[in-house]
Amino acid sequence: MNNNKKGALSLTFIALLVIVEGIERAQFPPSFLFGTSTSSYQIEGAVSEGNRGPSNWDIFTHLPGKVKDGSNGDIADNHYHLYEEDVNLMHSLGVNSYRFSISWSRILPRGRFGEVNQVGVAFYNNLIDSLLLRRIQPFVTLNHFDIPQELETRYGAWLSPKIQKDFAYFAEVCFEEFGDRVKFWSTFNEPNLMLKFGYLNGNHPPGRCSEPFGNCSFGDSSTEPYIAAHNIILSHARAVGIYKNIYQEKQGGSVGIVIMTRWYEPLRNITVDISAAQRALSFEMAWFLDPLLHGDYPIEMRRVLGSRLPTFTDEEKIKLRNGMDFIGVNHYTSLYVKDCMFSPCELDKFSGNALVFATSQRNGVPIGASTGMPTMFVVPHGYSQRSDGVSLNDLLNDTNRVEFLKSYLSSVATAVRQGADVRGYFIWSLMDNFEWTLGYSVGFGLYHVDSKTQVRTPKLSAKWYEQFLSGGLET
Ligand code: NOJ
Repeated sequence: MNNNKKGALSLTFIALLVIVEGIERAQFPPSFLFGTSTSSYQIEGAVSEGNRGPSNWDIFTHLPGKVKDGSNGDIADNHYHLYEEDVNLMHSLGVNSYRFSISWSRILPRGRFGEVNQVGVAFYNNLIDSLLLRRIQPFVTLNHFDIPQELETRYGAWLSPKIQKDFAYFAEVCFEEFGDRVKFWSTFNEPNLMLKFGYLNGNHPPGRCSEPFGNCSFGDSSTEPYIAAHNIILSHARAVGIYKNIYQEKQGGSVGIVIMTRWYEPLRNITVDISAAQRALSFEMAWFLDPLLHGDYPIEMRRVLGSRLPTFTDEEKIKLRNGMDFIGVNHYTSLYVKDCMFSPCELDKFSGNALVFATSQRNGVPIGASTGMPTMFVVPHGYSQRSDGVSLNDLLNDTNRVEFLKSYLSSVATAVRQGADVRGYFIWSLMDNFEWTLGYSVGFGLYHVDSKTQVRTPKLSAKWYEQFLSGGLET
């Protein structure tokens, strides 16, 4: 990230330390998108229905010991069958947008190979139509972690450049089938997180890693996260290119990417900590944003990784700057950083590739939404709640979540007032769902879901969101 951008980000970040009391819908423009978020594998279930092919997550969750409570997404929230009910829940909340992902395995059960699955296309057509009928804008993610397993077994998925063409094909099928009604596309959800877990510590599929980062018997964490990222960045660029060249004018939508963005501040006002914070930002957020905004990786990454970081050709650099329309900022927390590169300290396994130690979480301090950055959406933002061993009453009475969301929204309102181009805010999540390796042991939902009966019950936070969206004054 260049210094001007970092400066702009920091300035607004400091402004956001001021917590505004009271928050109202009227503090945001009428066109501002307020929504909820989900993803296909976490809610749909019905993994063997409608000709869907096996995904990498189907395979991974069925391996012993991979998920904390031994669960999987086979049934999840059964949204595949209950989608109309879920759209009605959103309608009763009063949201004007819904962020969900399309399961690649439902559209192309074998990745690129074989026919487009018309049953899968029909499912998403029905969902989209049902949303639009209730004036809810679909905000669609093309990849939220799950991919057809065949891509993994055939050629190693994100480790192979072959996937660039296949992802672009999947994207084009979606633009073609749904783009007449979908006006917001994001290519990837948090690829930086997907790589950390998939190739650095091995906790997510394909479960590859090596010492000292994780405890896997195969993989090479010193190169694979960067190779996989390179293929994701180029896959994104291809999909954006197709949208811009063929679909954008006739369909009138926009396309972007969602990145996990923790904000890092130096722990002490000393040069090594200041550089460590900069490295942490580079290795996490700018890893993707710099190539997509400026055509190349951040200098801090190149300095540390040298030839372990792949390079873009001149032609690719031009294509990369193909102008995506927005950045989805997925921000849950901010951290202080102290140096580990030039002074001894305990190592963090990811941030800065073991070069920094992130310490003392700064809860409730949102990222700076910068006036120097492109259009942004906060997608998603949420609060987790332990669900195992907690009474239903306590789960429903989620006052902490309400306070957290209120305080964050106040900060977003301040950023918007100060001129930051933030156009939407999506809560993770509409309902409790399959939280990856934590299974169902935590819940982020505005609605509680009973895993046996699939009954959805509004929590206090759902009632608060509904009141906020209807223009009711916050108390
Ligand atoms: C955002 C991720 O995109 C989603 O998949 C995850 O469940 C939530 N964060 C909570 O961790």
